[in-house]
Amino acid sequence: MSARETRRTDVHAEMRGVTRVYGGSGGSAGVQALAETNLRLRRGEFYSVIGPSGCGKSTLLDVLAGLSRPTTGEILFEGRPLDGRVPDGVGVVFQEDASFSWLTVADNIVFGLRRTGVDAAEIARRLDHALRLMGLVDFAKAYPAQLSGGMRQRVCIARTLVMQPRMILLDEPFGALDAQTRLIMGDELLKVWRETGATVLLITHALDEAAMLSDRIGIMSARPGRIIEEIETRWPRERDSRIAANAAFGDITARLWSVLRDESLKAIRQGAGP
Ligand SMILES: Nc1ncnc2c1ncn2[C@@H]1O[C@H](COP(=O)(O)OP(=O)(O)OP(=O)(O)O)[C@@H](O)[C@H]1O
Ligand SMILES: [Mg+2]
Repeated sequence: MSARETRRTDVHAEMRGVTRVYGGSGGSAGVQALAETNLRLRRGEFYSVIGPSGCGKSTLLDVLAGLSRPTTGEILFEGRPLDGRVPDGVGVVFQEDASFSWLTVADNIVFGLRRTGVDAAEIARRLDHALRLMGLVDFAKAYPAQLSGGMRQRVCIARTLVMQPRMILLDEPFGALDAQTRLIMGDELLKVWRETGATVLLITHALDEAAMLSDRIGIMSARPGRIIEEIETRWPRERDSRIAANAAFGDITARLWSVLRDESLKAIRQGAGP
């Protein structure tokens, strides 16, 4: 394999010149959520996206996942263009708690898997593994209402994991949690990332979360959003939230904020009108 081919296979997913405009039919201009966005996710990396409120982060995730079509541009997953569906191998975890209140933790976790034709023994094996990995073994028969917010979010992550995605996209999955629980959940996510070898794209508004979890961080501009800068952390693969004590952590967070501050000010002025 040539060096050029090696580089190409290292790219797991790619957005090329992707824009997204909402509405705009019937003569109205619509809302441009994404300006020309280019993004290359390397196979197996942990990539976070930060950006001002309303800049198009969820839109980026939706089009990359195949949940919504871009207005222009192209998205490739494992070298193939998306065809209007979420491709096999892509798992999504949403911000809101998406657990089903009438199903037990175990039934929530295997809900999607049961629809895929995977046999019962394999379902049981994957369930057992996901319960262990997410620390939910003792709660398999509990209902979501009996769990804390962090545990419910772990159920949602487990439900994605049992599908064995090769790429996991998460949209502010810890947004509703308190600071300590967020740190612990971040560590859980790092464990999942290491153990599965999946490529992870995490949307977050927390600079410290992005700085401690990621291999690379993409910073988005104010709306219409695009990635205006990428920062590489060079953390070792074996890491957890205690990396915040590392001297480089402060430097990375400061660099993120110096770019994000300007964009956040722009976003706030946009919101305030002309
Ligand atoms: N379904 C939709 N229809 C019309 N406009 C939309 C739709 N979804 C998002 N938008 C608009 O697109 C822009 C980007 O929204 P998006 O949700 O992607 O931003 P975000 O960065 O995820 O915001 P937040 O930080 O609040 O999560 C916003 O101006 C929003 O109002
Ligand atoms: Mg969002």
